[in-house]
Amino acid sequence: MVPKLAESGDLMVAQPAAVPYKHQRDTANFGAKTMANWQKSDWRNKPRVQMPDYTDAAALGATEAQLAKYPPLVFAGEARNLKQKLAAVSRGEAFLLQGGDCAESFAEFSADTIRDTFKVMLQMAMVLTYGAKVPVVKVGRMAGQFAKPRSAPTETVNGVELPSYRGDIINGFDFTEAARVPDPARMLQAYTQAAASLNLLRAFSKGGFADMHRVHSWTLGFTDRDEAEKYRDMANRISDTLDFMSAVGINDDTTNNVSTVDFFTSHEALLLEYEEALCRIDSTSGLPVAGSGHMIWIGDRTRQPDGAHVEFCKGVQNPIGLKCGPSISSDDLKVLMAKLNPENEAGRLTLIARFGAGNVGEHLPRLIRTVQEEGANVVWTCDAMHGNTIKSSSGYKTRPFESVLREVQEFFGVHKAEGTIPGGVHFEMTGKDVTECTGGVRAVSDEDLSDRYHTACDPRLNASQALELAFLVAEELSDHRKTGRAAAV
Ligand code: PEP
Ligand code: CO
Repeated sequence: MVPKLAESGDLMVAQPAAVPYKHQRDTANFGAKTMANWQKSDWRNKPRVQMPDYTDAAALGATEAQLAKYPPLVFAGEARNLKQKLAAVSRGEAFLLQGGDCAESFAEFSADTIRDTFKVMLQMAMVLTYGAKVPVVKVGRMAGQFAKPRSAPTETVNGVELPSYRGDIINGFDFTEAARVPDPARMLQAYTQAAASLNLLRAFSKGGFADMHRVHSWTLGFTDRDEAEKYRDMANRISDTLDFMSAVGINDDTTNNVSTVDFFTSHEALLLEYEEALCRIDSTSGLPVAGSGHMIWIGDRTRQPDGAHVEFCKGVQNPIGLKCGPSISSDDLKVLMAKLNPENEAGRLTLIARFGAGNVGEHLPRLIRTVQEEGANVVWTCDAMHGNTIKSSSGYKTRPFESVLREVQEFFGVHKAEGTIPGGVHFEMTGKDVTECTGGVRAVSDEDLSDRYHTACDPRLNASQALELAFLVAEELSDHRKTGRAAAV
């Protein structure tokens, strides 16, 4: 028996009216008909890629049964609330900031790690809001980002070949045969870590830490750096404004508004046994919802229109992300949009462009035109990380800061030329002072990479690089809002 979500009425938000796709306008209830018979286990009948082959079926079944009895990590009303905010992003009324680890790890799990990433996201959001005068929707790659698609099923080190590491929810990072065996019990540890992470994130968001009056205290830990100085300057101006507002009596409601933030979680819905086990029926709508995170996305390697991952994601009500890399065809995008957002609901589908610096002009315009031709409602966001990974001269996988920035600038440039809305940015980043991406004002060099290279998977921006990028994105966004055609809409 699937447990029902308890929900309080105040989490409810009105759904925006759905606009059918152009080619579906005479096919009444297209979406409703498609979804009526969907079952959360239907993905099992579809081809799957990038998922582990568990050897112990009994252990897997027992874990799934256990997880299915646990409470969901997020509630349907929260996912609806995020969808509503993303609908505003799709209209150009807000901006999406999505960021966090490439892969969360069991070993790096600590309150400090969560706090530091949360803090940098708040700082970045503040910079964007202040610079571009637009609300920022904050979504962490947190509390569930444990499973990784890999470019090869095995890896070879010193002549020894072992199965690839696929994220802590699946197998272990150590290069030993035992560690690399997929172990279903890891799903329970991932659930526990996600629950504890969410608990802390909820406390930080609502319990005083995120109060804008504390904008100065978020700078603790800064050393003297250019962007720290810029941030302090901005923080001074924000607290002056708050003091002024309180002095002239504009307080109560406004003060409440700046005392807490809404912070959402997201991850790639890769390990479908975990996703299915946490899928619940929303007692309000009677519809299925992924209980593993507020937003889930489909990776660039698992977006086959008839594959298992699309099959699962199409049936849950959460906001869905879809990674769009250079290999996505316009025809596939059409099919995927119709499958994943049959009602063409605003805020439901976020297209996460990740082409790599220098490639955006070749791919984004054709996909934007496909979206326009279909009359599809989407959020466009820019993952400026996954198309920019290179091997450094010192042998480390890295990403040059200037490539990340260039991809963001190209993304804004194309949207300006097309008259469409650049809805957000998506970064792999951490609040820690790691040396994984090169460049930035503090100029991490190839030789520095070995100093603090801690990622379990892809290289992340460190706190300084992330904040620097936020200032640069704020300039792009502010410029777009003043001069882009979308700003006039
Ligand atoms: C990721 O976001 O960590 C990822 C693997 O991205 P993509 O599917 O775009 O390669
Ligand atoms: Co990654």
